[in-house]
Amino acid sequence: MKKSILLLIISVLSLPAVADEGMWILPLLKQQKFADMQALGLKLQDYDIYNPDSSSLKDAVVIFGGGCTGEVVSPDGLMLTNHHCGYSQIQQHSSLEHDYLTDGFWAMSRNEELPNPGLKVTFIDKIEDVTDYVKAALEKDDDPDSMNFLSPRYLDNLAKEKAGESFLLNNPGTEVEIRAFYGGNQYYMFTKKIYSDVRLVGAPPSSIGKFGADTDNWMWPRHTGDFSVFRIYADANGNPADYSETNVPLRPKQWFKISLKGIQEDDFAMMIGFPGRTNKYYTSWEVAERRDIDNAVRINIRNLRQEVMLEEMLKDPAVRIQYASKYAGSTNAYKNAIGTNWAINKRNFEQVKKAEQDKLLDWASKNGKLEDYKEALLMLERIVADRKDLRFRNWMLDEALARGIEFSRVPTNVDSVIAALSGKNKSEQQKQIRLLELAYHRFANKDYAPEVDKKIAKVMLKEYRRLIPAKSQPGYFAAIDKKFEGDVNRFVDYLFDKSIFGSDNNFNKFIHHPSVKALKEDPMILFAVSIQDEKKKLTEALTEFDADCALAHRDYVKGLLEMYGDKANFPDANSSLRLTYGQVKGYNPRDAVFYECQTTLDGVIEKEDPDNWEFVVPAKLKELYAANDFGRYKMPNGKMPVAFAANTHSTGGNSGSPVLNNYGELIGINFDRNWEGVGGDIQYLPDYQRSIIVDIRYVLFTIDKYAGADYLLDEIELVE
Ligand code: ARG
Ligand code: GLU
Repeated sequence: MKKSILLLIISVLSLPAVADEGMWILPLLKQQKFADMQALGLKLQDYDIYNPDSSSLKDAVVIFGGGCTGEVVSPDGLMLTNHHCGYSQIQQHSSLEHDYLTDGFWAMSRNEELPNPGLKVTFIDKIEDVTDYVKAALEKDDDPDSMNFLSPRYLDNLAKEKAGESFLLNNPGTEVEIRAFYGGNQYYMFTKKIYSDVRLVGAPPSSIGKFGADTDNWMWPRHTGDFSVFRIYADANGNPADYSETNVPLRPKQWFKISLKGIQEDDFAMMIGFPGRTNKYYTSWEVAERRDIDNAVRINIRNLRQEVMLEEMLKDPAVRIQYASKYAGSTNAYKNAIGTNWAINKRNFEQVKKAEQDKLLDWASKNGKLEDYKEALLMLERIVADRKDLRFRNWMLDEALARGIEFSRVPTNVDSVIAALSGKNKSEQQKQIRLLELAYHRFANKDYAPEVDKKIAKVMLKEYRRLIPAKSQPGYFAAIDKKFEGDVNRFVDYLFDKSIFGSDNNFNKFIHHPSVKALKEDPMILFAVSIQDEKKKLTEALTEFDADCALAHRDYVKGLLEMYGDKANFPDANSSLRLTYGQVKGYNPRDAVFYECQTTLDGVIEKEDPDNWEFVVPAKLKELYAANDFGRYKMPNGKMPVAFAANTHSTGGNSGSPVLNNYGELIGINFDRNWEGVGGDIQYLPDYQRSIIVDIRYVLFTIDKYAGADYLLDEIELVE
């Protein structure tokens, strides 16, 4: 008996290290996690990944555009990211004559690479702990209870002061930034280098890059080749510069080698990227708030809206194209909310967070610190209770009206048109009318179908009025009862009949006979303004809670750090550079079902449905499949790999992130997560949560065999 207990203890102690949660910041990696990573199989030294004194792997990772990650893969600045990250660039270059979204695009020489004004990539040159510096500045702050400790503007000014004006002037494209970590208990400063000449090199057709589209979004097993290829350009000195023909490909400090060795279940895998936002330090009350207000409203409202959209899309191919991207955007966050609530309930997150709170209180009372932390928790509990009604109204307003109804975004800033029409200056009148016309066409653009918006508005308004008491609705809604006896359908029809924005016909009539009265009484403008007013009111009321909430959170996290020691915790994601590691792994989603960690081209062919745009397989891909023409990219069993899953802790913003093997070689590009794992933004789910990663061999196969752009491989270092 005693012996077996001893054996049990020994075996527990000697269990191989398990991958755990975490989006680790690189300067702390060595103390915090490096030993675990090596135990899992990593063959690199910490300074290979992050070296404050010279270049290291982290220098090959960039922020792509606003919210994605990209990685440099050649000494000539070639870069990979996701197809869905480069989507708007691919779309911008597309037209009916050359539809790159449908057919794909491949520059067959560097001259053919396409510039993308506005697109930037950001390297992180330096990361410094500036906690003491920021805290000293905050001490001198007039109002220590203000939100400055989290304010990006305040912190960026501190960063500029610290870097010094001449440093920024002498280093073109360089910017500095300070970000708060652990709720404002620590601060890091980032020195960034931003390149603004980034050209599109290649993209597969959507039938590869977006294969499975919305049906498969947030789903494993997955068969999407979600990648695109860009190149970073610099001026002759290697400095960031806006697009110019004389720019040359960037000679980067680092680039990833690409592995052809493939992956096996349980292999070490790590991901470096820019995860956006997580809520690991939620209290139990905030978990419930997120589930019962934020997510519940989103799920209810989007479900109703998507039903109407889908019905209209299925009826009319033109509407299908117009609303495809709106529908995708809507379902992306909707499915995420469903998955999050599923995990909150299934894994009792409320209880998990409650246990953590109780543990802190217990620890604090034993250490004479109860007063410090009890107050913070009571404050958070009270805030959630006090803002309940406002928060519900705000989410309903956003989801059902502000986002849900397109005509709540008609142009409302018509004062200068009214002023011009009231005056005598003919050319000013013409100018103002012309501006209004442009604004109208931005609203009623090629993707706007008034009939669809009208149908959706009726459903949205009915649900909104069912759930929000009359006295808490936007002021203009009183008209629904007064003039239309509560009949929402008649009200909406009236808006479309009478508003100058209700149809092209109405608008054209107006510009031929513009009238001040028509503008002042326009019912869609009144409707939209009323929603803006209500939004402003709610935002102001909710902002009242922000400072108390942020301060209480800072205290709560401070307590957890004290209790656990700050080496054991990682800060919530905040779009800063992070590393997560784990293993390639399948999972067991429900009883008796097991998902393997690797998908193959067999699955693409299985899912093929020529009648459903989401699952069309391009003919060339079918030919390659039929001929087993997979070149050096196939697996030892002869199959063509497509995607794999790993238990790395990723979130939105990690799209496009490099996934690396134990030698730091590129094995895949992250692009999604399974819906069972999205709750990991609140609490990591080791048994469910999987990053979804396109296998680098499928990327190379597509470039080489499918697109015939094999010349690109010449500049890449392949490791066999
Ligand atoms: N779910 C992924 C992410 O959150 C992919 C989204 C793009 N794809 C789509 N079918 N909507 O961003
Ligand atoms: N698709 C997400 C992105 O664009 C990643 C999915 C997730 O893990 O949330 O960043």
